[in-house]
Amino acid sequence: MDLELRGIRKEFPGVLANDDVSLVARSGKVLALIGENGAGKSTLMNVLSGLYRPDAGEILLDGVPQNFHDPGAAIAAGIGMVHQHFMLVQIFSVADNVVLGVEPTTVGGVMDRKRARAEVREISQRYGLAVDPDAIIEELPVGIQQRVEIIKILLRGAKVIVFDEPTAVLTPQEVEEFFGIVAELKSNGAAIIFITHKLKEALAIADDITVLRSGKVVGHADPATATPEELASLMVGRDIDLSVDKAPAKPGATVLELSEVTVTDDYGRKLLDSVSMTVAGGEIVGIAGIQGNGQTELVQAITGLLPVETGKVLFQGRDVTKLNPRKLHQAGIAHVPEDRNHMGMVGSFSLSENLILDSYYSDQFSKGLQLNRGAIQESALALVQAYDVRPPNIDNTGDALSGGNAQKMIVAREFSRDVPLVICAQPTRGIDVGSIEYIHEQIVLKRDEGKAILIVSTELDEIFSLADRILVMFDGEIVAERLTSETTPTEIGLFMAGNRS
Ligand SMILES: Nc1ncnc2c1ncn2[C@@H]1O[C@H](COP(=O)(O)OP(=O)(O)OP(=O)(O)O)[C@@H](O)[C@H]1O
Ligand SMILES: [Mg+2]
Repeated sequence: MDLELRGIRKEFPGVLANDDVSLVARSGKVLALIGENGAGKSTLMNVLSGLYRPDAGEILLDGVPQNFHDPGAAIAAGIGMVHQHFMLVQIFSVADNVVLGVEPTTVGGVMDRKRARAEVREISQRYGLAVDPDAIIEELPVGIQQRVEIIKILLRGAKVIVFDEPTAVLTPQEVEEFFGIVAELKSNGAAIIFITHKLKEALAIADDITVLRSGKVVGHADPATATPEELASLMVGRDIDLSVDKAPAKPGATVLELSEVTVTDDYGRKLLDSVSMTVAGGEIVGIAGIQGNGQTELVQAITGLLPVETGKVLFQGRDVTKLNPRKLHQAGIAHVPEDRNHMGMVGSFSLSENLILDSYYSDQFSKGLQLNRGAIQESALALVQAYDVRPPNIDNTGDALSGGNAQKMIVAREFSRDVPLVICAQPTRGIDVGSIEYIHEQIVLKRDEGKAILIVSTELDEIFSLADRILVMFDGEIVAERLTSETTPTEIGLFMAGNRS
């Protein structure tokens, strides 16, 4: 089925999120939809899937105008959307999730589990999506959960399939598999819309590329001939330098030291296995590893979110192993968390409130028992401008920010603190190339001011462009350490896959 969007307009108070947007996605083809943070990609897809009503414009399927009053109508017409944040019931089985809302029933009206399982099996086989219908969602890796979402929309007869940043949370291996699934969907005639900030992926997988900027279509590119640099400048309207300029590090005194830190889960499995490492002032240490090898727990153990069982954490020579997160924060640790929606911000708070979330009690922002509104506003405005958080209205709520702009706001808040240690987990996940350039520059600036920087990233490119020293985590352990100047992505990739140094 071919999809055409014609002149779509969608306005939020004060923001024209989609301005006369037209595009075409053809059966058996992949259309990549790219654009900077807040360009209007997710909004457009929410219009397509019936979550938002457009203020103007038309949706046509095989040339026939549609009118989606709600998501149910869009699904019935063959639109399937895989959201970035999966919408699965964690404690249900795969089969139960897949048929939720369209359960096959027996004559007596009871859910027909046997048929549900058979349908899951049939679709997984047809599309090469190996998934066990009886597995419980919360026990499955993200890549498999994504397949469950795909099976779910296929079962509902999706012919136009939208993926909103599907690869942001996948391991490199899972990305390969995902590309295979997309190829299968294509050959079965689906029209696919693929949203991504990873320009190399867009070039690798798309048949066509449409670029949005400030709510408008600003161009198209042919993946056969375009380069990442061309796409980047189409997206942001200026040239982007995708490499990071930095002088060699001049490491000073050790700021953070872990010695033999071990953390086990409720079942006695070691999440962190005798981890020892240091980060000095004036250097950027990058933790490389495939998601799920203890990086999350490492950051949680350092920031007090996860109790350390044995071993020690020293911060500026002082034992901080038992301190709670607020004490550690006050001691001088900035933290950009991995899970920004749950841990980084409060959606119902305004931007200015979110920007002082963890420092409202400081002298800068309070006078005795009163908050100093003037100072808070002034600081919020400056941060929003410096980090290009859009729209720059500090009275808007966090919920109204696009995914990448929310991340920029959190980075702005944490980087504005003048503290000796900055920990960034996935600092640029979901962020467009223009803002990545800026955030990377800020990280290097902090280093050159003498701060200790710890970066955790599943993007090997990011580790290589930022880190001065690389540690590789595998299965809860640090399995290798290299100076960035003395190693290669291939060598680090082997350690990530479990090879030992
Ligand atoms: N519910 C909402 N209320 C108010 N404004 C909104 C709402 N949803 C989105 N916006 C605004 O609409 C614009 C487009 O947002 P959208 O989420 O579509 O961007 P995006 O292209 O998906 O960006 P990202 O790459 O960061 O995910 C942004 O300025 C955003 O702040
Ligand atoms: Mg989005």
